[in-house]
Amino acid sequence: MEQFTFIDLFCGIGGFHQAMVDLGGECVYASDIDAYCCKTYELNYGFKPDGDITKVKEEDIPKHDVLCGGFPCQAFSKAGKRLGFADETKGTLFFDILRILRYHKPKYALLENVRNLASHNNGNTWRVIHDSLVDIGYNVIDEPVIFSPHYIGIPQHRERVFIMCVRKDIGELPPFYFNIDRIPKCSIDDILQKDSEIEDLKRYQLKPEQIEWIDNWNEFIQGIKCDKLPGFPIWSDCLCPIEESPLYKDWDNQPGWAKNFVRKNSELWENNKEFINSWLEKAKKNNLFFGSKAKFEWQAGDCQKPNIWDHIMQIRPSGLRVKSGTYFPALVAITQTSIVGKRKRYLTPRECARLQSFPDTFIYDVKNSQAYKQFGNSINVSLVKLFAKYMFGDQEIQSKYSYDAQFGKGEIEPSLFPDYE
Ligand SMILES: C[S@@+](CC[C@H](N)C(=O)[O-])C[C@H]1O[C@@H](n2cnc3c(N)ncnc32)[C@H](O)[C@@H]1O
Repeated sequence: MEQFTFIDLFCGIGGFHQAMVDLGGECVYASDIDAYCCKTYELNYGFKPDGDITKVKEEDIPKHDVLCGGFPCQAFSKAGKRLGFADETKGTLFFDILRILRYHKPKYALLENVRNLASHNNGNTWRVIHDSLVDIGYNVIDEPVIFSPHYIGIPQHRERVFIMCVRKDIGELPPFYFNIDRIPKCSIDDILQKDSEIEDLKRYQLKPEQIEWIDNWNEFIQGIKCDKLPGFPIWSDCLCPIEESPLYKDWDNQPGWAKNFVRKNSELWENNKEFINSWLEKAKKNNLFFGSKAKFEWQAGDCQKPNIWDHIMQIRPSGLRVKSGTYFPALVAITQTSIVGKRKRYLTPRECARLQSFPDTFIYDVKNSQAYKQFGNSINVSLVKLFAKYMFGDQEIQSKYSYDAQFGKGEIEPSLFPDYE
């Protein structure tokens, strides 16, 4: 479409807006309940979003060609009973999308939600959403399309469900295929700022005590002798004989997974007793080494010479998690901002903006906590463009994601949804 109008429901900071304007769209309505998001949205786009959508009558929303909505992922409590869509979606924010679509019947709608939507309630939630959209007159691909920025080389792993809807009189929507064996190489360098460009660099850098604490875990992973680096969680309190672990007191009531994890920690200790005992003595001298910081999760795979500082880290309630250094885990609205090992610092808000494909001209909230939250809630702009183009019938994009282009004739069975169940 050359020129079109769109509305931006649950607009956040405008991931959809950014993409749609780049494709020639004009925003005629936006809404979000969060005042901070609305401020950022207005600052960037000169458009003031309306408030709570549940209080807005559909007839008060202007006519539009495209409805966009990354609706919040509320549980569909009644989904599955299949009493007809009105009953099953009432009370959820998807219902508000539906009533606006039913009233205005725009040519297209592009919706987005968390990956879990595909499997929630044994796939019934997806069925209700799909069937509701079809019932009111849209072509929608039968299976949920799951896609992530890292599938097209953007270094963020963020699998989301994309729902493309084309009004039945406008045209068909061919099935979308993506071959997960063809994920391109990603590099985090594509989004990193040079340290010399970062204003107030100090606030992002790890403190000496944090570096020492991570160095301790680095010594641990480099010093233990084992066939394969431990893929199970390490809890320093369990690096001892099973009978001395804190879980042993109530051993009979421990669930199987807990017993298993204690056993594996104890076995690791047994095979590395001398090293671990002296390592523990030193590690405990660091003031940070307690609670969740005395736990460790190596998720960067097996390798000969492990070095934490080559990787990406997150400080989580379950411990220091180390992931391979090729792409970042999904930005999240809660603060678990990733640490870039090789820079010994946290991601900056500008780098988060880049991970969501916002241009460097994008102005983010002056409060970093808000900026991190907003980018964590947002949608990747490049993916909106990809799916909008696909939905609008762009021949080049449609053939790129055809079965033949992705799998070649008769090569392998399409496995677009590898672990859908
Ligand atoms: C997953 S986020 C969508 C983010 C957006 N796509 C973006 O690019 O930033 C969901 C948004 O829905 C908003 N929201 C939740 N309930 C709402 C309601 N009743 N009316 C309007 N917005 C609502 C939240 O404030 C949040 O910003």
